[in-house]
Amino acid sequence: MAKQKTFLCSACGASSTKWSGRCEACGEWNTISEEKPLSSGPASKSLGARRGHAVPLTDLSAEEAPPPRATAGMDELDRVLGGGLVSGSAILVGGDPGIGKSTLLLQAAAAFARQGLKTVYVSGEEASAQIRMRARRLGLADAPVRLAAETNLRDILTTLEAEKPQLVIIDSIQTMWADNVDSAPGSVTQVRATAHELTTFAKRNNVSVIMVGHVTKDGQIAGPRVVEHMVDTVLYFEGERGHQFRILRAVKNRFGPADEIGVFEMTGAGLAEVTNPSALFLSERGQPSAGSVVFAGIEGTRPVLVEFQALVAPSPLSQPRRTVVGWDGGRLAMILAVLEARCGIPFAGLDVYLNVAGGMKIGEPAADLAVAAALLSAREDAPLPADTVVFGEISLSGALRPTPQTENRLKEARKLGFTAAIAPAGGKTGSGGGLSLTRPTDLIGFVGEVFGAG
Ligand code: TYD
Ligand code: MG
Repeated sequence: MAKQKTFLCSACGASSTKWSGRCEACGEWNTISEEKPLSSGPASKSLGARRGHAVPLTDLSAEEAPPPRATAGMDELDRVLGGGLVSGSAILVGGDPGIGKSTLLLQAAAAFARQGLKTVYVSGEEASAQIRMRARRLGLADAPVRLAAETNLRDILTTLEAEKPQLVIIDSIQTMWADNVDSAPGSVTQVRATAHELTTFAKRNNVSVIMVGHVTKDGQIAGPRVVEHMVDTVLYFEGERGHQFRILRAVKNRFGPADEIGVFEMTGAGLAEVTNPSALFLSERGQPSAGSVVFAGIEGTRPVLVEFQALVAPSPLSQPRRTVVGWDGGRLAMILAVLEARCGIPFAGLDVYLNVAGGMKIGEPAADLAVAAALLSAREDAPLPADTVVFGEISLSGALRPTPQTENRLKEARKLGFTAAIAPAGGKTGSGGGLSLTRPTDLIGFVGEVFGAG
């Protein structure tokens, strides 16, 4: 029987038996290529053919001590990890090339090493001399980090077994090469195999392993999504190249809350922690202008204020533009539809641009009302008062839903000098943070109160 070919998607790792231009699993284009399957030997017999060992079973109520954690002393990093690094955990740090992953992890390696953790940094991308030069520039040259420039995973694992570190950093997973797997470094099969080896090594030896994974747009090398399910924690390092802000976001964490963020600023001397992100995100705000609205959001456990900016202009196109940066395009379409259907405010024939200032990405539905406010303010050319924050979720019926952590949002707004808030009725406001509150129950009420009759 002719052996069946296997095709794998480099974005999500889905396999199929035939090539196609678009991956059916994740919808990416040009990411599918032929690869040898992981087990190229003869198919093994069914598991039932030979008896295994009995595994011990326990009760749900068995006492479990919280996992021991090591902190780096970098608050923004420790918080995103869920309160420090859990020993024996496997962590993936994904991000676009050039965003600052190597810089972040070199700083993290130095910080953990200075706290007494035995740390090894393995780079498959740069020569040791290059890394030493960077360390000197960042003022980290004296940190007791052991360094290697190597891509052969077998040699790396042998070295680690002898060295017995507590933390290993692998930069990057796409450059690593397991010689028992017959395909090129960076391919789905290699990335999967090396990540699996490293994760197993982490568990077996109780060593924390942090792997860097480049996000890739072309189908040439596999992206971090291929290994996301294997590791305990997935962090993404985000930001716009043109901006100095960088956000480390936990998208999966077996040892802490997901959605937690850490904010950094890329400076000439490496990444600096930003302890008050709201102040930073609002620092470029000028005079109150139409289309600008401050949203009081929650990222993980922390309130963060950001500015939404909208521009609405007559469109020469039969299909007007809907352009969004930092928010979900589908959600924008929904809000435009609700404004039209429930409030009779049409956006047909108008181009709509929506942007989150500072390069931040917002995923919270609580931003709905801030977006609606920005759109209306831009459309009516009517600025909102500069000292007002807005938040609330909009339902398809046009009703406003109270958001979680209302009190924390109000407190953060107060702290940054805001004096008024527009938020849905209902939900615990506590003292309201001392802000003057406008509390509509639906979108029509909101339009009436904020923009006159609408
Ligand atoms: P790097 O950490 O190499 O990115 P990645 O590993 O994600 O590919 O960072 C690359 C960029 O960071 C590079 O364009 C220069 C900038 N940078 C600074 O601005 N300041 C610094 O101190 C360092 C080390 C890098
Ligand atoms: Mg790098």
